[in-house]
Amino acid sequence: MITEKLLAPIKSFLKCETPQAWLDEAAKKENLSILLIDHLICELKAAQSAMFFIRKYVVDKASGDALLAWLQPFETLIYKREGDWRSLASKNKLTKSVIPKANSPYGQSLIDKMVLLIKEELHHFYQVLEIMDEYGVEYRSITPCRYAKGMLKHVKTFEPDALIDKLIVGAYIEARSCERFAMLAPLVDKRLGDFYISLLRSEARHYQDYLTLAKEISGPEQSDKVDSRIAYFAEVESQLIISPDNDFKFHSGTPSF
Ligand SMILES: [Fe+2]
Ligand SMILES: [Fe+2]
Repeated sequence: MITEKLLAPIKSFLKCETPQAWLDEAAKKENLSILLIDHLICELKAAQSAMFFIRKYVVDKASGDALLAWLQPFETLIYKREGDWRSLASKNKLTKSVIPKANSPYGQSLIDKMVLLIKEELHHFYQVLEIMDEYGVEYRSITPCRYAKGMLKHVKTFEPDALIDKLIVGAYIEARSCERFAMLAPLVDKRLGDFYISLLRSEARHYQDYLTLAKEISGPEQSDKVDSRIAYFAEVESQLIISPDNDFKFHSGTPSF
């Protein structure tokens, strides 16, 4: 089956599967709204962090500003609660070309992968809003779970190691999301399950793109070092998934409440 083929590399990349106790919690009707709202925020954060990589590492201010303008209506909806969400469908556009700085050897590759990723995450964001509308789920602000922070605190503080680590963390977040969508799909109703399955292909590519970038940027002579950082984050990530967690969110650990 196509899903199995997409998931095979992800399952070997992740050190553990999502615990059954998390799936049982996620399947409860009363948790649908928190799951959808958290999913919505995750899509925006995925777009924001991809944009961060382009802005911090490979473009000048003019290109950076064009990128920010693209994201702005989406951020305004969430952070200021302004604007009609339906108008966002026509706003998922980058209006200027984004050009890498002349001295950036990996600039074009990073821009190509991240611009596509942002476009897809913002499309997913819109799709989650559509689903929330259909299910009558109102947006409300929620606190982030420990997951991303729990990995980011292990990121090195000097370059280029910090960039490589952040790309690896990006790969883990994408891979885990993909795994959870696949596991959740059969547990929810058909509309939502079909939506989760429709996300797998792009999320699987996102995880791959982050890993490719980490390897490309560090270069072939550093590949052992990158592999050891991947192994390190595999362990950190699986601990965050397996260890008891008194919060329930899309990326939370084993429910203990
Ligand atoms: Fe997404
Ligand atoms: Fe993604």
